[in-house]
Amino acid sequence: AINGQVNPSTRIDCYPQPGSNQQNCQSRGCIWDSNFDSSNPTVPLCYLPTDTGYTGANGAPGTYILTKKASSFVNPYGADSDHVIVSSQSIGKTLNVRFVDQSFTNRYEPPIGIPKNPSTSSSNDVLQFNPNSVGTQDPFYFTVTRSNNGPNLWDTSIGGLVFSDKFIQIATHLPSKNVYGFGEAIHPSIRHDFSRYTTWAMFARDEAPDSASALDTKNLYGVHPFYICVESEDGKAHGVFILNSNAQEVTTGMAPHLVYRTIGGMLDLYFFPGPTPEEVVNQYLALIGTPMLPAYWSLGFQLCRWGYQSLQDIQAAVNRTQAAGIPLDVVFSDIDYMNHDEDFTTGSAFAGLSQYVDQLHTQGLHVTLIFDPAIEVDYDTFQRGLTQGARFIEWPASYPVPSTNSLYPLTANTKIMLGAVWPDRHTAFPDFLDETGATDQWWAGEFSTYHSKVKFDGIWIDMNEPSNFGTNQASTGHEGIAPLACPLTGSNNALDSPPFQTQAVYLFGNGNYLSTKTLCMLGKTGGGSYDFYDTKNLYGWSEARATKKALNTATGKRGVVISRSTFPSAGRYTGHWLGDNTARWEDLRTSVIGAMEFNFFGIPYVGSDICGFIGIPTMELCLRWQQMGAFHPFSRNHNIAGTPPQDPAVWPLVAAAAKKALLFRYHYLPYLYSLHYDATLYGHTVLRPLFFEFPSDSATLTLDKQFLWGSAFLITPVLSEGAESVDGYFPSGANNNEVWYSIYDYNYAQATPPGPNQLPAPVTSMIPVHVRGGYILPRQAPATTTTAAKTNPFELLVAIKGARGAGTAQGQLYWDDGEASPSAVDGTYSYYKWNFAYSETPMGAQLTLQRVNTVNGMPIPTLDIIELFGYKFSPSFQSFTLDGNPLTLNMSSSFYNGPL
Ligand code: GLC
Repeated sequence: AINGQVNPSTRIDCYPQPGSNQQNCQSRGCIWDSNFDSSNPTVPLCYLPTDTGYTGANGAPGTYILTKKASSFVNPYGADSDHVIVSSQSIGKTLNVRFVDQSFTNRYEPPIGIPKNPSTSSSNDVLQFNPNSVGTQDPFYFTVTRSNNGPNLWDTSIGGLVFSDKFIQIATHLPSKNVYGFGEAIHPSIRHDFSRYTTWAMFARDEAPDSASALDTKNLYGVHPFYICVESEDGKAHGVFILNSNAQEVTTGMAPHLVYRTIGGMLDLYFFPGPTPEEVVNQYLALIGTPMLPAYWSLGFQLCRWGYQSLQDIQAAVNRTQAAGIPLDVVFSDIDYMNHDEDFTTGSAFAGLSQYVDQLHTQGLHVTLIFDPAIEVDYDTFQRGLTQGARFIEWPASYPVPSTNSLYPLTANTKIMLGAVWPDRHTAFPDFLDETGATDQWWAGEFSTYHSKVKFDGIWIDMNEPSNFGTNQASTGHEGIAPLACPLTGSNNALDSPPFQTQAVYLFGNGNYLSTKTLCMLGKTGGGSYDFYDTKNLYGWSEARATKKALNTATGKRGVVISRSTFPSAGRYTGHWLGDNTARWEDLRTSVIGAMEFNFFGIPYVGSDICGFIGIPTMELCLRWQQMGAFHPFSRNHNIAGTPPQDPAVWPLVAAAAKKALLFRYHYLPYLYSLHYDATLYGHTVLRPLFFEFPSDSATLTLDKQFLWGSAFLITPVLSEGAESVDGYFPSGANNNEVWYSIYDYNYAQATPPGPNQLPAPVTSMIPVHVRGGYILPRQAPATTTTAAKTNPFELLVAIKGARGAGTAQGQLYWDDGEASPSAVDGTYSYYKWNFAYSETPMGAQLTLQRVNTVNGMPIPTLDIIELFGYKFSPSFQSFTLDGNPLTLNMSSSFYNGPL
């Protein structure tokens, strides 16, 4: 602070809403800077005085009692809490710090029952909570440090702690600008930009991502208050999660610093020590739960679009895909198949759906259908809900029921809040937080009943922010349905017009509210226990939980669920697609970042709409998107209604590229599946950025145009128009002994020199894929369905470091029947480990295959091919063993391309 003034780079905005000026700034006791700097228009001119906050005193052991300190700042968003209790505790290696208002005994906490398993770390570092001003008149602040010192991971001496009922704020200095995460939003780069102030709203919203605008900070479908920070040159990383389900926002400031604001709940902070980025994710997922294991078939290619006019349209798309020899596993239908957009019905143009699904099953294909949460209120599904005691989001008991309810016999005498989505009558929104279980049971029952007619295998849940058309507007613009009106003024408006509304409202401009595109904040969920104001962000999470259960019950199998809206721990139940993107090169690029971020968030089964949802792709864009999308864990081509078909078989050149890329993917599915197993068992990422593997190589910290499958498989997609080549970076590693072998093309098995490389990538080739020396990857010969490929003989690709690093190579395979439910967690899988030991003599190399776990009666294909990279001798297979016994093999090939 200079004379009470704060350096422009270290400010905490005191007017975090539109329209600040000297007068309204100073009237809330904040400091006004009249020197607008046009070179950085994001610097807050109205900022918080540094003496704002609380003083601290020791409370019960391990807790501190904070007392509001006098300051010129007058909180305009509500009365400050006089006292706040701060406590800290450890959950394994994870440090938890909580701020709770002493006077609110019932302060709202998200009712999401996360596992909170103790975390582990490869380092001895212990995170410490250091309250630095207990017992003084100075504002209370704390730091979080590693036991062996190093930089402060958090340091709240920057000031800015505000705690009131509907406005809570905390700010911290950061040890570096290497910050990743927070979602769901479109991030133009994977590493956040600290050269400016940027505020990211976090409030689930039906909002199409806009990758073409210079900076789109809008909140999209899900909410993930979690980030990873690489602290310093040594590459140590930590993570922070803020467990709060209210509308919230975070500002990345130039100091570098963070300012976090929420309009409800409390501050429940979790610090993860890493020290590697991957361990940060493991520790985070120990807390919130590890992801579900997708059915094996769901790793296959998936065909979808909105706007199939009839079953024949689906069949035509499937037929041309198969005729072109493009691998295809999953056939989708969007809302088109329903009768008037009603869940659990089949429209007349899709009358043969049931037989067609059976027929696809005989070909080894699978089917995923969409189901929206909004249930039309005048048909049997809704009626059964009422009869079975299912709950729907409702108005508070004291609130006058709008006249809309009396339009329908079934809702006339209820408090159910009516909205409008796709159906042509009003809809009700199932209350998946209802703790009696009746809602989930009714939901599962509807799926089972429909499944007895149409044997779908996967479930796609959409519009679950939840989205509602036309809220607070004059018209829904949809089928003449009267829109929902929320109490924005008057005595009932406390939740719908709170004093501070976050950028989730301000960014969208006048005429927007928290309830825009959704239900009223004063709605009741949890069977009447909670306010929608607090639980809206949990809607997709709770629907995913109910739907995963429903799928397992209906099908008796594992299957897979895909959800648009997500919240921390949603990955336990569902995957995610990145929403309504546009057929533009920018969107292809940001989908690489989005897929990596959802791996940070514990939802590794993720992908973008290949070729773009909105708009019409050029052939070249679609081709490049098919090539990159072949490496999305969830690989689906999807398209908006009313546009020409864009499935890969539409263009011969795209068909050829898709076929090549997907056959390549299918070859390595055992590796991809094993990565998903590792995610389920240990909380690993499946798809990850290069800095996850090489955090101390500072060149990797900004790389977001390449990504890895696990540790060993590097994908370098083409993301720009007209490109014939692509730039990639090949880390040389901390010991300067990394080796990257080309495995995609005419340079097959050749090592790529470390550092930046320009690789040829004509449209007729494939995007570059490299394998990292030191790893053994399981493969199977591909086929055009996973069902067929899964029975082919296994192969191993053994990539050693060769003369650069000699040493060993390791790998593993998890294997099961691919669809039994549950799996992974109950040990019904086979697990193999391999180890290759290098030797300078032809006879000396050892390949050891070890069956760590096998399941009786599970058929396992034979291992027929071993491909070896980087070994200078033709190996002797006498020295290859399986469980200690010599291996008899039909040796196929060994590649070596000279010393590196
Ligand atoms: C939403 C979904 C989109 C889907 C459409 C129709 O926009 O995000 O994927 O096709 O609704 O159901």
